Amino acid sequence: MGDHAAGSYAFGTFDENQDELARLKQQAAIVSEMEGRVLREVGLKPGMRALDLACGPGIVTALLAEMVTPSEVIGVDLSEDLLHEAHAYLESRGTRNATFQQGDVYSLDGSLGVFDFIYTRFLFQHLADPKLALSKILPRLSPGGRLCVVDIDDAWLTLHPEPAGFRAFTKRAAEGQSRSGGDRNVGRKLGGMLQEAGLEQVDVHVTTVNSQQLGMRNFLDITTGFKKEQVSEEHSNAAGKDLEEIYKCVDMKDAWGFVAVFVATGIKGRNESP
Ligand SMILES: C[S@@+](CC[C@H](N)C(=O)[O-])C[C@H]1O[C@@H](n2cnc3c(N)ncnc32)[C@H](O)[C@@H]1O
Repeated sequence: MGDHAAGSYAFGTFDENQDELARLKQQAAIVSEMEGRVLREVGLKPGMRALDLACGPGIVTALLAEMVTPSEVIGVDLSEDLLHEAHAYLESRGTRNATFQQGDVYSLDGSLGVFDFIYTRFLFQHLADPKLALSKILPRLSPGGRLCVVDIDDAWLTLHPEPAGFRAFTKRAAEGQSRSGGDRNVGRKLGGMLQEAGLEQVDVHVTTVNSQQLGMRNFLDITTGFKKEQVSEEHSNAAGKDLEEIYKCVDMKDAWGFVAVFVATGIKGRNESP
C-alpha cells in the first residue's frame, strides 16, 4: 500500500483544486439521470440504508438520499474540504436524510453500523491497495446487503477521429496516476476483486457515456481534466500541445467520444456475520 491513504486522489494537493472541484461536480451532475437508472437496475430501493463511500462533493449522495427515502444515506470521505462542500450542497437542497462523516476506506469506523447498499464511485482507481480496502468495506455490509463499485478503464476511452497525441497524453497521465498508487485500468479488475473478497452473485456491466449526450466540450473537460493533473512536470509542455489537438474535436461536427464506466456489484451472503 502507498504511504498515503488517498492514493492518487488527495484533494488539496492538485495544481488547480478549484478547477478539479468544478470538474467533479460537473461530472456527477451531468450524468445524474443516467446514474439514477443504473442505481435502480442494480437494486437500490426506497428504505435501504446506504453508504456513499468517498462521496466527494456530495452530488451523488444527494441522488442516493432521494432514492432511499424514507431511509438515510451517510457520505464518508477522507477530505474535510470535500465534506464541507458536500454538506453545504445538501443543505442548499434541503435534504434531511443525509449526513456526512470524515473517514478512510482503510479504517472504516464500526460506529457507522451496517448498510443495505454501499456505493463507491471513482474511488478504486485511486487506491494503492483496493483488495485491502474491500476487506475493510465488507464488514459494513449487512447480510444480504449489496456493494456497488463503479470505475473506469482507460482501454475503453475512445475519440474518433483520434487526435494526434491522444494516446501519448492518456499514457502519460496513467503513468503519473500509477506513480501515486492509482490504476487507470481498474474497471476490468473489479469483478474478480469482488469474487475474491467472497461476495455472491457478482456481476459487472459496462455502461458507456458519449460526447453526443454530454456535448464534446463537457466530455473532454470531464475525461481530460484530472488526467492533466497527473502528467509529470517534464511532460507538461507536450501534454499542453496534445490537449490543444484533442480540443479541436469541439469544432469537428463528425467527432465522437466514448467513455466506459464499469459497474460491479455483489451481495454479501446471508449467513455471514456483519
Ligand atoms: C474522483 S473523487 C470521486 C468523488 C465522488 N465519489 C464522485 O464520484 O463524485 C475520489 C474521492 O475519493 C476520496 N478518497 C480518496 N482516498 C480515500 C480514502 N482512503 N478513504 C475515503 N475516501 C477517499 C477523495 O477524497 C475523493 O473525494
